[in-house]
Amino acid sequence: MRDPFRILNTLEAAYVLDVATGRGDFIKILRDNLKSYIKIIGVDSSDKNVDRAQKLFPENDIEIYQMNLESLRLDDNTFDLVTIADSLHHLENMEAIFSEMLRVLKPGGSLLVMEMYSDGDQTDAQQTHIMLHNWLAAIDRKLGVYHHNIYMQDEILSFMNKLGLDDLVVDAFYHPVDNPKDAKNCETLKRTCQESFKRLESLEDNEELIAEGDSLLDRINNIGCASASKLLIKGIKPLSNKKENLKEK
Ligand SMILES: C[S@@+](CC[C@H](N)C(=O)[O-])C[C@H]1O[C@@H](n2cnc3c(N)ncnc32)[C@H](O)[C@@H]1O
Repeated sequence: MRDPFRILNTLEAAYVLDVATGRGDFIKILRDNLKSYIKIIGVDSSDKNVDRAQKLFPENDIEIYQMNLESLRLDDNTFDLVTIADSLHHLENMEAIFSEMLRVLKPGGSLLVMEMYSDGDQTDAQQTHIMLHNWLAAIDRKLGVYHHNIYMQDEILSFMNKLGLDDLVVDAFYHPVDNPKDAKNCETLKRTCQESFKRLESLEDNEELIAEGDSLLDRINNIGCASASKLLIKGIKPLSNKKENLKEK
């Protein structure tokens, strides 16, 4: 399989910001694949995730901070590369957050988005992942936590197209799985289902979600699971503000 992160091998980005860093999985990918960097900063609002990511990266050139993405405590035009991975569907106010990401990105710098999608030609095992994700998202929503279903490719692309970036490059990829019923992966997912059943216990009108969870457990046993396909999208922040230029004409 071709390397989905080869786009990073050519990037010499001195100062990198990864937003919605979570536990730091994408920072590992940046650290291991960028051609060069001086510093990677990760930011997230969850104190638990920030704590875990801080412990994961003891190196001096990776720093993790707790921050709300809607009001980043960072200067304008600071970063050569700003990234967000596997998180669009967790952002309640996507416009405000991308406006902040673009504010701190230098003109000529790159914005990189990685996000799974739900449509297109995906295997039965990938469909299990999509259904499982959307079941977990429905439980979160019932508990008052913002969690959107996995977006379709057009939804992600039409959002990206509105940002006014130059040289947009779009790639789609997935990690093929030899045996989707592979015990380790499936055991983890089954544990996630069991934990979610416990979360459901406290909710009223939970019968439909419980039945859906039961059928998902059967599906994991019978078909297995593999990660949904992802889009990797890169664009450049224009050197001049196109909207300003238009006003001047
Ligand atoms: C799926 S996780 C991130 C995964 C991560 N990018 C990785 O590579 O492992 C989504 C993250 O978005 C964060 N998040 C959602 N809305 C946020 C906001 N407004 N400000 C800061 N973090 C936010 C959550 O705290 C959560 O850690």
